[in-house]
Order: sequence, then structure tokens, then C-alpha cells
Amino acid sequence: MQIVRTIKEMRAHLNAWRKQGQSIGLVPTMGGLHDGHLSLIDAAKERADKTVTTVFVNPSQFAPHEDFVTYPRNETGDFTKLENAGTNMIFAPSVAEIYPDGHSTKIEVLGISQVLEGEFRPHFFGGVATVVAKLLLQALPDVAVFGDKDYQQLCVIKTMVRDLDIPVEIIGAPTVREADGLAMSSRNKYLNAQERKIAPALYRVITEIASNVRDGQNLSDQRAWAEAELTRAGFGVVDYVALRDAESLEPVSDASRPARVLAAAWLGGTRLIDNISV
Ligand code: PAJ
Repeated sequence: MQIVRTIKEMRAHLNAWRKQGQSIGLVPTMGGLHDGHLSLIDAAKERADKTVTTVFVNPSQFAPHEDFVTYPRNETGDFTKLENAGTNMIFAPSVAEIYPDGHSTKIEVLGISQVLEGEFRPHFFGGVATVVAKLLLQALPDVAVFGDKDYQQLCVIKTMVRDLDIPVEIIGAPTVREADGLAMSSRNKYLNAQERKIAPALYRVITEIASNVRDGQNLSDQRAWAEAELTRAGFGVVDYVALRDAESLEPVSDASRPARVLAAAWLGGTRLIDNISV
């Protein structure tokens, strides 16, 4: 497994692989790795000869009041997990490598970035789109894999790749969950023991909504129930519980087209998001 820190080194290795006719799969992460991240490497390995995993806590997707400084970082532990998962290369650049002095370009994906997460974290998708566009152009992979866990992020990246004609296939991989249903997330480390017990209620609630929508109920009847249920379980503010078209993320009221239930809610000082297909 190669560990590279600079774009130049990464490109040199990737060019050599490409000359040998090897296809390349990219898995972008911010580290703090868990089995959800590692499942993306498996998905990349199924589709490409060589996989590159990036580990970069991207400052531009955090607002000043958010957790950039405290975000879980454990490079040694992450690199061991990545070696065991069989990735062929780790790209772990410094902030200065990705955003050198004078860096002044930002990518905004309008529309789909401005709803749901975009309403509550307006800085977020601009930072994600910018760094993902840079990583894709730095590595020029054949495929890049992202998790359904961050479903809106996946939609935003697909839209950006289409609009900017970036020649890569974007793959969405299923959400990996703990035994009790909680979606794995680097930020689950922030939960204390009591919050950790409460957390699976988010998945329970969206699962029940998806099932009711499949049975013909509409979301407006269930939103109040969902919020009350989350509050009863111990959640604080519920940012949204929404039923959206699975591709455009436009609001829908039933499951006559492929749809997705998406939710975000606060548990103590931690904001959890989850989603499920209907
Ligand atoms: P991060 O939160 O580290 O997630 C990296 C990738 O892992 C994302 O594609 C995310 O959707 C996926 N992932 C996270 N939890 C998962 C789970 N439980 N099951 C399956 N996949 C899961 O998302 C980011 O980093 C950043 O925004 C990034 C795309 C790297 C840009 O900085």
C-alpha cells in the first residue's frame, strides 16, 4: 500500500497504473474510519483494478462554529484499517496541498444543494463540491464511490459530475449500520452512553415512515408523529423529516415514484442524519 501526501506523487503512481491498463477507483473520506467507510473500498474493488482512498478533513465544509478542530482524527489507526481493507493507495494531503495560498475557486451546485442539509448548513455543500471536484480532477479515476448514508451529498456530487462533464462514474453504496440500526458515522464517537442508546430511534422512525408511505399514507400526517416520537426517545431539535424524490430531492407526497425519507435531528450536542429508500 502506497501512502502519498502530494498531488504530484499520487499522479505519478496513477499514471504508471494506467499505463499498465489498470482501472482506478477513488474513495474519498475524512478519516475517523469505520466499517461504513471500509465497505466503500470493497465496492470500489469490485469495479476497479486499483483503489485509492483519500483521507482529508476538509476545512471548507465546516462552518466556523462547527467541529473542524475536534473532528475525530487517528491517522495511524486509519492507515492500519486501510491496509487491512486492501486499498492500494492512501492519499492524505495537508490542508496547504489542497488549498495553497491564493486558492480562490469554489464550486456551488445550485438547487439540490440548497434544500434539507443546505438550509441548516449553508456552507457545507460548497465545501464538499469543491474538494470532491479537486480530488476527482487530481486522480481522474474511472469510478468514485460514496455512501448512501449521506444521500444528499451523493445527489449533489452526481449533479456536479454531470454538469462539469467530469469523466467518472459515481457509485452509491448502501449504508452500513450498527446491530441496533444506527447508521455508522465518525461523529457517533461524540455520543455518550445514554445518547448512544437513544440514537437508533432515528432509524426506527424513518423506517416506520417509509413503511407507512409504502402502505399509502402521506408524510404530512406522520411528520408530527415522527417529531413527537424522536422527542419522546430523547432527541432535541428535529431539523427535518422529509419525503423527497429519490433523484431530484423535490418534495413528494407519496411513493408513486422512487422516493427517500431523510431526517436530521440533534441528540445532545451531536447532529445525526439518516435516510432510507421507500
Ligand atoms: P466522511 O464523512 O468521512 O464519509 C466518507 C464516505 O463514507 C462518504 O461517501 C460517506 O457517505 C460514506 N459513509 C459514511 N458513513 C457510512 C455508512 N455508515 N455506510 C456507508 N457509507 C458511509 O462524506 C465525507 O466524509 C466528506 O464530505 C467527503 C465526501 C470525503 C468530502 O470531504
